[in-house]
Amino acid sequence: MAEKKNMEFDRPGGYAMPKGAIAVQRELAFDLVAADEDTTIRLHGDQVPAHQPTKPTKALKPAHSLDDPDTRVYVGDCRDVLPNLPDAGKVDLVFADPPFNWDVPYDEWKDGMPRAEYERFTFDWLDACINVLSSTGALWVNIPDDSAAEVVMHLKRRGLTMMNWCVWHFRFGQNRKDSFIMSKVHALYFVKAPLERTWNPEAVMEPSDRATVYFDPRTLNKENNVGMRVPMDVWYGQYWGRIQGNNKERRSQHHNQIPEVYLERVIRSCSNEGDLVLDPFLGSGTTGTVARVLGRRSIGVEFSKVNAKSAFERIKQGAIRVGKEKTAAGNPIFAARKAGAATKEKFEAALKGGGGKK
Ligand SMILES: C[S@@+](CC[C@H](N)C(=O)[O-])C[C@H]1O[C@@H](n2cnc3c(N)ncnc32)[C@H](O)[C@@H]1O
Repeated sequence: MAEKKNMEFDRPGGYAMPKGAIAVQRELAFDLVAADEDTTIRLHGDQVPAHQPTKPTKALKPAHSLDDPDTRVYVGDCRDVLPNLPDAGKVDLVFADPPFNWDVPYDEWKDGMPRAEYERFTFDWLDACINVLSSTGALWVNIPDDSAAEVVMHLKRRGLTMMNWCVWHFRFGQNRKDSFIMSKVHALYFVKAPLERTWNPEAVMEPSDRATVYFDPRTLNKENNVGMRVPMDVWYGQYWGRIQGNNKERRSQHHNQIPEVYLERVIRSCSNEGDLVLDPFLGSGTTGTVARVLGRRSIGVEFSKVNAKSAFERIKQGAIRVGKEKTAAGNPIFAARKAGAATKEKFEAALKGGGGKK
């Protein structure tokens, strides 16, 4: 018997869960609170007092800026800068790639705090990001295994909803023998309002395996986006490696640079042209660079003056890979699609033309 379709179906956190079930869970949680049960989540960082943001004596000014689209780079600690921005509640997308507390020799930032202090630091900047985010906005956090759980717990206790727990998988990790080689970072996608959020699936679609690997004719029965689908939640591919050594995107003196294609996917899917994108840890400027070429306004905050200047130079130069990711090159279906074959007939002709097993 055909399964009955639930039109109210939604998948926060990547799990298939009807909205009704979520509502029931929330009610149960509220019941616990009402019954005075102790539902507090306690994390190490909660023992440390919260950071008190400094109040500037005059209006905060960016160290570097460009017009059309409005692009600003501020120098300072994001925990102090964010609460003093004139953009509270107006940021459409936050992408944050914080220091991981791994003793990385950043220009000025000391990347080796006692664990509880690092967690407190994490909660403080997360809260500052939540405060500037619009009600329809998205918050993405790039974070490794050892701190992902705390970030997730904190965002949940602040009332945000997880839409996806993505994984950025790279093939060029550091060799080691005492455990498996690390080859991933978590890309956590949270929102304030799952149903009202900005979400552009068609802007990030890629050729599906069904079309390009299995040559399954059923893909032709789709009304729209024939042969295409939204990417899966594990991200890897030609331009998705770590930005090391002779990589064309590499900015010397910067540590832990993220590939442009990663930011391209996040920005295209979770913002519209003209929207405001914020990166509290600008680093080499990947977010600002990609945001600008995609017509988004942006704010970047960077603790190091030197890094901020270098990031600004990169933003002015523009991106290298945006729009250039190779997608199933040589495949007849994708080639036909690129050539404008949007009809079933043309795709069928492309299928008959060969290019794979059926
Ligand atoms: C992991 S890197 C970001 C890399 C960036 N995503 C890229 O693609 O180049 C972290 C950056 O945050 C900066 N930073 C560290 N603590 C900061 C703070 N409290 N406020 C602002 N920037 C900070 C460091 O100087 C470093 O450049």
